[in-house]
Amino acid sequence: MVDLRARLAGTAGQALLPAAGPVLGDRSWFPELRGVAYFNHAAVSPPSLLVQAALRAMIADYAARGVGAVAAAAEQRERLRGQLAALVGAQPGDVGLVPNTTHGVLAIALGLPWRAGDRVLCFDGEFPTNVLPWRQAAEAHGLELIFEGLDGFGDAPGQALERVEAQLRRGLRLVAVSAVQFRDGTAMPLQELAARCHAHGAELFVDAIQAAGLLPLDLRGWGIDYLSCGSHKWLMGTEGCGFLAVHPDRVGALRPAVAGWLSVEDPLDFLFSGRPVMRYDKPVRQAADRVEVGAPNALGFAALEAGLAPLIDLGPARILAHVQALHDALEGPLVARGFRSLRPAAREARSGILSLLPPPGLDLARLVALLGESGVSVSQPDGRLRLSPHWPSGLHQVAPTLAAVDRALPLARA
Ligand SMILES: Cc1ncc(COP(=O)(O)O)c(C=O)c1O
Repeated sequence: MVDLRARLAGTAGQALLPAAGPVLGDRSWFPELRGVAYFNHAAVSPPSLLVQAALRAMIADYAARGVGAVAAAAEQRERLRGQLAALVGAQPGDVGLVPNTTHGVLAIALGLPWRAGDRVLCFDGEFPTNVLPWRQAAEAHGLELIFEGLDGFGDAPGQALERVEAQLRRGLRLVAVSAVQFRDGTAMPLQELAARCHAHGAELFVDAIQAAGLLPLDLRGWGIDYLSCGSHKWLMGTEGCGFLAVHPDRVGALRPAVAGWLSVEDPLDFLFSGRPVMRYDKPVRQAADRVEVGAPNALGFAALEAGLAPLIDLGPARILAHVQALHDALEGPLVARGFRSLRPAAREARSGILSLLPPPGLDLARLVALLGESGVSVSQPDGRLRLSPHWPSGLHQVAPTLAAVDRALPLARA
């Protein structure tokens, strides 16, 4: 973090740099953020001052130098690649930069060397990002798509894993799962899933967008085969970028179904060598970064490095403990007001998301809109009330949140 602040000193972003380092529960890095409580980081994180400083610095460089700024931006992305790799237990060469989580899922779903009849396991209740590409692959390659329920993963993971094991015994090629479920915040037992998949010759694909930055992830250590993640939630970047990490044992088998002019060996020689060497038959790189198909979202990746910087500084484990303290403070009072908590009983299955079912007869959409008008930002995915605080959220925001709930509840009863 200190490093990035030092890098941005003396650039056009300098005026925006936060005066001091990040502090848990302190929102001074987000001076423009409206309202009393922003509990919506599982949806979209607002850009911090550091993110804005990084964006300002890069856009000013492009404004001043045009194509001359490209090399510095490419260097920044290599730095970021290393940080992202470290965050998920990978090496920089395992990581490709993509526009969103979906792009990473598609690259694998369309790129695996499928055999007709291969069986793929998805979970009923997953965010569509991690289902629709597998459906497309199933239609294109004659795969069988199977759905398992998510019941039990938060409370009795052992039993839930047994159901997956039963499917594995029947023969699966791949299991696709989110590290954290977007509706109820259940953190899935990835290490156990990876071990069981591998014991049966199957592979594990992980959508990490609701986990990365807060929960431990270890691609190489746990044997996750593929991991895709977007940047605008817990990593606190902006929309329009993300990354795909591929286990080194798997990258060689992937077909270049999602590849473009920047995916090939030595893609820039015809532009910079001064010689007429352009060819269309160059081999696609056998590396995760082959998913970088064309001109990248340079600004978005600058924002991502700046979003990530305070997470590295504060440490994901400390942030998770801070967020859990907020969940502790919010959960009981909301249950006392008639909501049913979906928070996993197993501590290791908890995440940044606290979800609750609304009491019968409550118009949840109306409640969420009224809370928004009161300056409390929360979500309502698939009929759940979802609160997702992050490092700048503070315990002092709980009382005004509950007061807003008390004002809104009578008005939101259907
Ligand atoms: C679990 C999960 N996966 C993926 C996404 C988004 O995917 P993408 O980055 O492709 O927009 C979301 C939310 O937007 C999500 O909650």
